[in-house]
Amino acid sequence: MMRRKLVAGNWKMNGSLATLAELDAIAQAAAAAPGVDVAIAVPFTLIHPAAVRAPGLAIGAEDVHEAESGAHTGCVSAAMVREAGASFTIAGHSERRADQGETSHDAWAKAAAAHRQGLNVILCCGETEAERDAGRAERVVQAQIEKSVPDHADGRWFTLAYEPRWAIGTGRTPTLDEIAAIHAIARAKLRHMIGDAADGVRILYGGSVVGGNAGDILATDNVDGALVGGASLTAAKFVPIIEAAA
Ligand code: G3P
Repeated sequence: MMRRKLVAGNWKMNGSLATLAELDAIAQAAAAAPGVDVAIAVPFTLIHPAAVRAPGLAIGAEDVHEAESGAHTGCVSAAMVREAGASFTIAGHSERRADQGETSHDAWAKAAAAHRQGLNVILCCGETEAERDAGRAERVVQAQIEKSVPDHADGRWFTLAYEPRWAIGTGRTPTLDEIAAIHAIARAKLRHMIGDAADGVRILYGGSVVGGNAGDILATDNVDGALVGGASLTAAKFVPIIEAAA
């Protein structure tokens, strides 16, 4: 099945009203690549101004709370980010797993809550360096998918992102064969869980994607796009990745 490529940025805890100016050139590049979907997840405070500034881009949240509303001081719901202008959210990013102790079950609950509010979801999985060194990368990713992918997931709203933790922000990436192996296993696991709908689900690779390696990574089997951190912060670095996907 032909899946449209998705190039998604994740600004993490970076950016400001001033740096939203980067979105202008990113939106231009997205318009020049009609075959590619382009999305950017930004901090909660920037969702609304980003959505106003770049109506042609999909603007998203980096996380949402799994509850609809209530006594959860400091948290933000899926309905709130949608009202602010988000069309999607990330769930289960490894930095939230590491820093906030989130589990695959939490990621599942957040993905389901986001979908109930009509948001698309990019759900992250990926092994640590120790797990890879121990030969457990495939099993870890399978188990994360098993516990975090909602059983009604389909490609219309759901995207999986494979982000090996040791490749995030390090400038190190797995080999193309290693990426292909995990993506094939992820696809097979999805097929086992959601049947034919798995063929429509995009599986992104994330971890030190830059303009120089994006072409090779995006041409790898079962890689349907990229989730980009550091290189999504400026148009100068992000646009070449969009162009590589086109
Ligand atoms: O979510 C994207 C991310 O974790 C990858 O970060 O900086 O290695 O592209 P980076």
